[in-house]
Amino acid sequence: MTAGYGSVCGPWPPERLIVTTTATPPGCACSVFQSKLSAFSFFHAVCRSLTHYHIHAFNMPGLLLGDLFPNFEAETTSGRVKLHEFLGDSWGILFSHPRDYTPVCTTELGRVARLSGEFSKRGVKLIALSIDSLEDHWGWSKDILAYNCEKSECCKLPFPIIADSKRELAVALGMLDPDEKDKDGLPLTARCVFVIGPDKRLKLSLLYPATTGRSFDEILRVVDSLQLTAEKRVATPADWKPGECVMVPPNMPEEEAATLFPAGVFSKELPSGKKYLRYTPDPCDQGECVDTERSQTEPNSCTSLL
Ligand code: BEZ
Repeated sequence: MTAGYGSVCGPWPPERLIVTTTATPPGCACSVFQSKLSAFSFFHAVCRSLTHYHIHAFNMPGLLLGDLFPNFEAETTSGRVKLHEFLGDSWGILFSHPRDYTPVCTTELGRVARLSGEFSKRGVKLIALSIDSLEDHWGWSKDILAYNCEKSECCKLPFPIIADSKRELAVALGMLDPDEKDKDGLPLTARCVFVIGPDKRLKLSLLYPATTGRSFDEILRVVDSLQLTAEKRVATPADWKPGECVMVPPNMPEEEAATLFPAGVFSKELPSGKKYLRYTPDPCDQGECVDTERSQTEPNSCTSLL
């Protein structure tokens, strides 16, 4: 059953994911890795009938869009957390960091702390991971709050940080950056972002190397798009922001679009003569959506785009 870079042991179904690292076996870029099975569904398929299992995970398990996110259990700065219970019915974002007390990570966690109110407004629960101990996380949290010029006595960030000093979860979730190593030559965590829907399925993932900090404004923007497109049969164009016109999906017949979008469907003339570039005003900007935080700066007509 060998396929890669770590191993997972425990009873099935797993109450928690326990992972121990091993050396990468030669020739492990195997067909399993290339298959459409995610790590989790692969584990599920292999282990369902077993009471105990010990199987090897692969180098990059590659959770795929739509996969059920593993319900791992971990120690965090807010106590022991079981992911699905922590998320409840909310959206969730799990984001990883290479190491505590590092400069880029400090700016990133500071930014997330400042944006935490925006994530809460959208019903998104945040949870971070860094491959250090709880003690390091608590000490580092004070630095992050100081970086943010927090005046309060409070030394707790508005989201938990998972302690993963043995890199168990980072390995299981394919979060390591092979190009960035610590002083002992072990790989650090990459900058992963997993957006998890209320159904606990993976809705979006980003994977940045340790040397490139993320834009958390962009992550808020994608949450807006994910939440809109989960509710409405629309798609969002490049650089879209709430309140701007959205796109009618290409597979929707004209008659259906006319009924579904009473605010109008505007198509751009194209050299091909094909009418696939179809805009409609943001349906959440017309008083019918619960989320009132969406921007209202532009009059909501799409004609300026044509
Ligand atoms: C940082 O967070 O500053 C960082 C961590 C690992 C490699 C490079 C930068």
